[in-house]
Order: sequence, then C-alpha cells, then structure tokens
Amino acid sequence: DGNYTVTLIEGDGIGPEISQSVKDIFAAAKVPIKWEPVDVTPILKDGRTTIPDEAIKSVQKNYVALKGPLATPVGKGHVSLNLTLRRTFNLFANLRPCRSVAGYKTPYDNVDTVLIRENTEGEYSGIEHVVVDGVVQSIKLITREASERVLRFAFQHAQSSGKKKVRVVHKATIMKMSDGLFLNTARDVAKEFPDVEFDAELLDNTCLKMVTDPTPYNDKVLVMPNLYGDILSDMCAGLIGGLGLTPSGNIGDECSIFEAVHGSAPDIAGKGLANPTALLLSSIMMLQHMGLNEHAERIQKAAFDTLAEGKTLTGDLGGTAKTHEYAGAIIKRL
Ligand code: IPM
Ligand code: MN
Repeated sequence: DGNYTVTLIEGDGIGPEISQSVKDIFAAAKVPIKWEPVDVTPILKDGRTTIPDEAIKSVQKNYVALKGPLATPVGKGHVSLNLTLRRTFNLFANLRPCRSVAGYKTPYDNVDTVLIRENTEGEYSGIEHVVVDGVVQSIKLITREASERVLRFAFQHAQSSGKKKVRVVHKATIMKMSDGLFLNTARDVAKEFPDVEFDAELLDNTCLKMVTDPTPYNDKVLVMPNLYGDILSDMCAGLIGGLGLTPSGNIGDECSIFEAVHGSAPDIAGKGLANPTALLLSSIMMLQHMGLNEHAERIQKAAFDTLAEGKTLTGDLGGTAKTHEYAGAIIKRL
C-alpha cells in the first residue's frame, strides 16, 4: 500500500542530529515511511544486557530499523549494546559496502567493494574464562549452521548485485578447525551456486593486496568470520575516507537493522557539526532492502552529487557547512 513504519534508534551523542538530517531528506523526497522512535537504554535482566520490551516489539513489528551510533556502556555486566541488538534479533549477516566518493580525495579511485561479515559468533561469542591466574581463554565459536547461512547470503548477494564472484577470506592455515569449518562449508555452499565463481584468500594477503590496489576486489563479494570482517571493513572504509562515509546493514531472516558504524562523537555532539553521510547511506541501503529503489536512487544521487560538487561539506570532509546546511544542499538536488 506504499506506507511503511520503520523503527528509529537515534543513538547517542551526534545520533539525534544526524537522524534529523535523514528524516528531513526523507520527508523532502516523499519517502512513504513513518518513523517510530524507540528508546534502547540498556537494562540488566537476569544478569544479561537487554533492551526495553517496547523497542524489541517495535523492531519485530516493523521488520526494519535505522540506528545511529550507540555509546558502549562501560558498567560491569554490560556487553556492547550494538552486539546485544545483533544477538537479540539474530542479525546473522553484516553487509558493508565501500564506494569511493567523487570529490573526496584519497590515494584510491573507483573503490567499490562489498564485504559480508558473519555477525553472530566467532570471536564475538562472548565466551571467555580464566583458566588459572595469568591464563585466559576467549573462545572463537564457529558453527556450520551460522557459517552456512551467512555464506548462502553472500552467494545470493553475488547473484542479485551482479558481482558474480564470492571470495572467502580466512586463516585456515593457522585456525585449522574454526576457519577450516568455515572454508569447507563455503566449498559446499558454492556447489549450490554454479553460476557464481568461488575462491578463497588468506586474510593477511587480502590486506596486503587491497591497500596496494583495491580495484581487483570490485567484482567480488568478500565473506568472512566475524572479527576478520570487523577489522577488514574498517580497512576498506579507510580506503575511501573513513567511517563517516560508509553504510552498514545487519540482516536477519525476521528483521534487519541498518546503522552508521562510526562512534557517537560526544566532543562535537549538539553543535550541528556532524556529518550525517554514513547514516544517510545506511538509510539508502534500507530503502533498497525494502524495495523502495526509486527513492533510494534519487536520494543517493543527490547525496553523491552534493559530495562531488564539494561546496557544502561538513568539517570532517574539509568544509565549513553545518549538518543541516549539508542536508539542505542534498534536499535542493532531489
Ligand atoms: C562495528 C563496531 C562494533 C563491532 C562495536 C561497536 C561493538 O566496531 O560495528 O564494526 O565490533 O562489531
Ligand atoms: Mn568495527
């Protein structure tokens, strides 16, 4: 019927300001979305960090959420709220594209990579213990089930995005069992997708080659265990200008949360200086996920054209524009 409700987690620090920019741009572009803001202030329940019930229900009801940066609580017993959200909603694949921004100069041109990160286990399992004083173990948990679903997602993404190759990034030479299972599962899943080319590469080698010349990676979907994806996606972001310019989508079977990966920048919060691009690009990914492709394309073009023109940029990109002026420049181009 053309009307959608989307859960909005504005986030901490600069979260409300950059969320406002997205809301303003969406309103100007007449995106048929109603926002449902929720509070995700963490609560401790039975010794575990969780979020208020209303927030959980809102995301489950709406299937999609947009999320600004959340400060990681430092209190004892709290795990990162970002991880809590991924776990609560079983958001098993983290989709992180990186595209060069015309007008923003880095040593690299034409970067257009896509990284898919397993989002529920690996080194993020949270299973750690002291064996004896001075000896600890942090468990890297890899299961065939979680590997299979993120790998399938990667192959499906290769099919739908037109990047007809999947490359697994791993370190199975050392992590023989955990990465070995991930890699072998990939070989099995690859057989289900004969139209998609498949190969594998060692993580250290990927880093070396990517910072030397990222363009050979433009036709591939990279997929990997959780922590490798965390690190390599930051490296990719570095190729194009940083986390202020890269979107991210946490995808699950029941719902998905699109988020800016950068921090809450408390030092500039409330001053109208923040760059809303990462959250805006995440919201564009969200529109594509919802099938609102025309709106996604219009807003994306307006944003990239504004960046390319380079007249109305926020301070982090070398400009002097306020957050709302930058958003206004995008709105003018819609
Ligand atoms: C990211 C972040 C998170 C992570 C932090 C905030 C828990 O770095 O989304 O990449 O480590 O996954
Ligand atoms: Mn990270």
